[in-house]
Amino acid sequence: MRTLRSIAELRAALAEPRRFGAEIGLVPTMGAFHEGHLSLMRHAREECDTVVVSLFVNPTQFNESSDLSAYPRDEAGDAVLAADVGVDFLFAPPVEELYPTGFATTVSVSAITGELEGIHRGRGHFDGVTTIVTKLLNIASPDVAYFGQKDAQQAVVIKRLVRDLDMPVRIAICPTVREPDGLAMSSRNRHLDPAERFRATALHRALRTAEAAVAAGLRDPAVVQARARAELTSSHVEPEYLELVHADTLAPVATIDGDVLAVLAAWVGDTRLIDNHVITKNGRR
Ligand code: PAJ
Repeated sequence: MRTLRSIAELRAALAEPRRFGAEIGLVPTMGAFHEGHLSLMRHAREECDTVVVSLFVNPTQFNESSDLSAYPRDEAGDAVLAADVGVDFLFAPPVEELYPTGFATTVSVSAITGELEGIHRGRGHFDGVTTIVTKLLNIASPDVAYFGQKDAQQAVVIKRLVRDLDMPVRIAICPTVREPDGLAMSSRNRHLDPAERFRATALHRALRTAEAAVAAGLRDPAVVQARARAELTSSHVEPEYLELVHADTLAPVATIDGDVLAVLAAWVGDTRLIDNHVITKNGRR
């Protein structure tokens, strides 16, 4: 695996495989790899001839500078993990390479960014995500780009971005990878102390409770949400939001008559966690 720092180097490295018709896969990340990230890389490795992983802690998607400076970084460890999975190129540029002096452009998806995470993390968060993802897609020009269902709203926003701007790339969304007790893997989990780590399993349980309620025939989203919320609060976890929304539009559902996305964000101590499940009408995923 080669680690590349500049846009020119990455483009030069990809020119040859592209000439020979190689299918190129891109996995955008901010590093601190866990099994969730590695599963995206494995999907890319299985499906593509050349795999590029970008590792860039994107400053424009953080609202708080303290959040940005606290973001875990371990490029050396990440490089070992990516190489083990068989990644060809790790693109890890410095900030100035992607945001040179005078950078003045923002790519912004409206409507679906104003809900859920957009309310709680601020709309600027998604502007930062869509701007950097546009840049990474323009730089690597992959055939396929891989994202995780873990960040359900981000996945919806990126699919919309690519559709609206006619970007010639397929967006692949890979399933959420979980710890054995159901907690969705996240780089933030390392901030949980043992007691918080235990409480954090309530997020997954709450989503399963919602699933069970739908499977039992409940069709009123308010009733289903109340059951899921009770599961959270009984573990002393307060949701920031817990909603049943349409999987494509992220609009709240009035009644459960098809697939819905159950999404939630909650603080466990000082750590903000998110999770989601797709719930089919009969309650199964
Ligand atoms: P990051 O948080 O590093 O996540 C990189 C990718 O890994 C995202 O597509 C995310 O959804 C996926 N991922 C994280 N945890 C996962 C899990 N438990 N199971 C499956 N996939 C998981 O998301 C970002 O970075 C950034 O916003 C980025 C898209 C790179 C733009 O800066």
